[in-house]
Amino acid sequence: MMGYLPQADWEGPVAQSLRAHAERLKSEHLNDLFARHPNRATDMVLELEGLRVDWSKQRLDAQAWHDLMAFAKAARLSDSIDALFQGLPINETENRAVMHMALRAAPDDGYVVNDEPVMPQVLHIRQRVLAFAENVRQNDAISDVVNIGIGGSDLGPLMVTRALRKSAKEGPRMHFISNVDPGHLESVLSTCQPKSTLFIVVSKTFTTQETMANAQQAKAWLMSSIGESAVAAHFAAVSSAPAKAVEFGIQSDRVFGFENWVGGRYSMWGPVGLAIACAIGAKGFEQFLAGARCMDQHFKTTPLESNMPVVMGLLGIWNRNFMGFSTHVVLPYAQDLERFAAYLQQADMESNGKRTQRDGRVVKHATGPVLWGEPGTNGQHAFYQLLHQGTDIHPVDIIAVRKPMSDMEGAKESHQKLLANAIAQAEALMKGKSEADSPHRTFPGNRPSTFMALEALDPYHLGMLVSLHEHRIFVQGVLWNIFSFDQWGVELGKVLAGQILAEWSGAEAGDHDASTVAWLNWFGPK
Ligand code: F6P
Repeated sequence: MMGYLPQADWEGPVAQSLRAHAERLKSEHLNDLFARHPNRATDMVLELEGLRVDWSKQRLDAQAWHDLMAFAKAARLSDSIDALFQGLPINETENRAVMHMALRAAPDDGYVVNDEPVMPQVLHIRQRVLAFAENVRQNDAISDVVNIGIGGSDLGPLMVTRALRKSAKEGPRMHFISNVDPGHLESVLSTCQPKSTLFIVVSKTFTTQETMANAQQAKAWLMSSIGESAVAAHFAAVSSAPAKAVEFGIQSDRVFGFENWVGGRYSMWGPVGLAIACAIGAKGFEQFLAGARCMDQHFKTTPLESNMPVVMGLLGIWNRNFMGFSTHVVLPYAQDLERFAAYLQQADMESNGKRTQRDGRVVKHATGPVLWGEPGTNGQHAFYQLLHQGTDIHPVDIIAVRKPMSDMEGAKESHQKLLANAIAQAEALMKGKSEADSPHRTFPGNRPSTFMALEALDPYHLGMLVSLHEHRIFVQGVLWNIFSFDQWGVELGKVLAGQILAEWSGAEAGDHDASTVAWLNWFGPK
């Protein structure tokens, strides 16, 4: 490996000092940290264009924070950020650059990959995608758009389309089919009419088993009702292997390509976002890109101390590696963000769920935590019991939105209840409560949270929020000395599933363990 990214030193003096800080802070209560430094509430806050991040309720003090910054500086994090934006092939196991920022860039941002300026091509495709989406929106014959894709070809567009419900006026009804479970396809198609449905098949590789199976099924459903000639007008595709989409039978002028320097889970800013553009229109999509670009510029140019993705990345490292917390909870207080945690699971866990360092050795430190979450207030009535009184500590990110997500009568009052609950949970997690005569009613508190607030859940601020998380994931991967932009860990299961299908079709039995053999027989064709 050539090594484009400098290594962090997990055994050096700064890491040792951080471990000592953690030992000291493990026996400190957040209430005492606040009592000693009430200005935490203003010092440990960053704000950028209507996105406010408050980490004052994290179990850190000024000395620990100083050393975390020193850790990032010793690891030459700024050089890694430069390497990303320069388009160097930092995805070394696939020999690719990582340049999804170009998909949301302005014409003169000047991004380059392999010495080639990429903006002309990006802008050309963006213009085609947006024109196609506007045509769909204005075509009264199309009532329903069905996105067929999985993983990065599903979760981002689904999450954003759902989150921007309020921006999706006068657009078609949007649906997403991802699971190869035939029930998923059936449940969507049973609500659509063939003659007014447009399918967008989204697959970076155009080989993914689930997506190909669903696309074939959708094609058959359409053909059996309105004939083979209808396929041309009812299908579009997005892929970085456009020839395969054409081979599938989709007209070349309805195939939108993208380059392999865009990872699947980072791809919704380009043609993979076609469903988003169909839902919210070209203007809304451009706002979404602009918000993400604003965060890109901030990440690229802001000193580490006040750089939002860097700060968030270091908080995650502090909690995971020094405080020893193994999960990370994301709690959006916005029902429209109901798929945010699911989207972020792929972005985060597929990127940083790795045990091999960039130099090929097995890491000696922990890497990506388990990420999970659900919208509040619903989660409060489900799993918050464990957050408040369980034996393990789970740091949480609360995400709240200042502007109500509804303008119906009574919405303002309901929204205030929502916000009151979000603020109250962060306070309860931190402060706790002791009841001398009832241990069962005692809350230990001292449970860390970061509170994030958006001015509004609009395309611009959502773009900022997603881009913030993408860069936060990058920061963490760099400091964990791992490669964040490949996903070899998903391959083995795919190969074995292929073998099982072949065996069920008569191929020679593979070398399976006894438990697997029993299941093959239990489910297998008799
Ligand atoms: O199996 C994981 C994965 O490769 C993801 O990384 C990707 O987002 C998803 O499958 C779908 O891949 P494709 O867009 O090539 O169909």
